[in-house]
Amino acid sequence: MQILELRTDYFEEIQRVKDDLNAVILAHYYQEPEIQDLADFVGDSLGLARQVQGTAADVIVFCGVHFMAETAKILNPTKTVVVPDLQAGCSLADSCPPEAFSKFIEEHPGHAVVSYVNTSAEVKALSDVICTSSNAEKMIQNIPEETPIVFGPDKHLGRYLIEKTGRDMVLWQGTCMVHILFSERKIRQLKVRHPDAEVLAHPECEARVLRLADHIGSTSSLLKRAVESPARKFIVATEPGILHQMRKAAPEKEFIRAPGKGPEGACEACSECPHMRRNTLEKLYGCMSNLSPEITLDEDLRLRALRSIERMLEIG
Ligand code: 13P
Ligand code: SF4
Repeated sequence: MQILELRTDYFEEIQRVKDDLNAVILAHYYQEPEIQDLADFVGDSLGLARQVQGTAADVIVFCGVHFMAETAKILNPTKTVVVPDLQAGCSLADSCPPEAFSKFIEEHPGHAVVSYVNTSAEVKALSDVICTSSNAEKMIQNIPEETPIVFGPDKHLGRYLIEKTGRDMVLWQGTCMVHILFSERKIRQLKVRHPDAEVLAHPECEARVLRLADHIGSTSSLLKRAVESPARKFIVATEPGILHQMRKAAPEKEFIRAPGKGPEGACEACSECPHMRRNTLEKLYGCMSNLSPEITLDEDLRLRALRSIERMLEIG
């Protein structure tokens, strides 16, 4: 009862502060259900980047991870962008320090540089174009066929793109700490128990997991497939926050979390992104009340990073 009252209070208080600030609350699909329910817009990386373009709000409250909020700030320099927890990072972004990536680019002259949005502003500034899991194939295909490509930081997404496009790509060797943990063996076992289930997987998963998938795509693409597919049951190989929207959109269907590589009966929370899950209702309320932590960015760096993001948004 105590918890319920507390939750209701946060909901009401957050709505009140939001109106006072003329704020918009954005949430990624990997946020906890309560945060998703409070948000004005829930989406994938591309959807969220598009949503913030030219927003009429004065304050953008970004419930996701740092690179997402930073992208919002790059696109909206005059707006205040706050986040519930500044420490909410990303293993992919962390795997790609700008100095080392710059050296990698120098080692591959004549290559176009395509970077996944899960990177720092510094890495975006070194890139020709940014992509998300929604539009990566399109961004690669937009590069002249004879031009080789440096792609970073996710080696699994990169390898998947090579398979899809047949392009000459050199890959930075980063991985997502969440998506590499899904177990091919245990998904196979689950498929035996649920032969009618479709497997949905994010392209950050390992190749052997993707080989078991009936549908591969960004979080919004997986959600769309869950709704539109005639299947009634799904094994979902991505962060389980997305199950909240799947269950809301298709309450009559069954969604099963893909199991991780840990020992039998290992904790369910292991496939939750520890960065995304740093955000809580309490911290959300705190960042709105204090307008802190705020995302700030050097203007020269912002302008250099903006080029590659705008290029992506122009291509579509
Ligand atoms: P999406 O763009 O597909 O939502 O992916 C973001 C992400 O961080 C996946 O781990
Ligand atoms: Fe980064 Fe992986 Fe978390 Fe997505 S799920 S934010 S790629 S660590």
